[in-house]
Amino acid sequence: MNAPALAGQSDWYLVKSINDFRQGVRGSQPDDIYGIQMQAAVTLLDDDAAVRDVVAYIQSFEPDALGVRYTNSIRYRGTHYEYFTS
Ligand code: HEM
Repeated sequence: MNAPALAGQSDWYLVKSINDFRQGVRGSQPDDIYGIQMQAAVTLLDDDAAVRDVVAYIQSFEPDALGVRYTNSIRYRGTHYEYFTS
C-alpha cells in the first residue's frame, strides 16, 4: 500500500497531515496515486472529533515495535512533512 508508519508520530503532525488530505492540500495531484488513495480514506472522517479520535487511537500504538528512533522533517512544495529513521 506504500502507507508510512504512524506509530510514535506527534499528535499535531497526525492532525495536520490528515486535515491536509481532507482539505486537498495533499493527495490532489493527478500523478500522486498513493496520495489520492489516502485522501479517499480520510474523507470517511466526518469532522474534527473523528480526526481527534483516530489520532488518539494511533497514539496508543507502541512505536518501538517498528524500531523507530528519530523523527526528521522536510518542507516540499510548501508542505511540512515528518518521517522516521531508525
Ligand atoms: C482512518 C484511516 C487513516 C488514517 C488516520 C491515515 C493517516 C495517515 C497520515 C497521518 C498520513 C501522513 C503520514 C506522513 O506524512 O508521514 C498518511 C499517509 C498515507 N496513507 Fe493513510 N491513513 C488512513 C488510511 C489509509 C488507507 C486506507 C490507505 C490505503 C488505501 C492509506 C494510505 C496512505 C498512503 C499511501 C500515504 C502516503 C501518501 C503520500 O505519500 O503523500 N491510508 N496516512
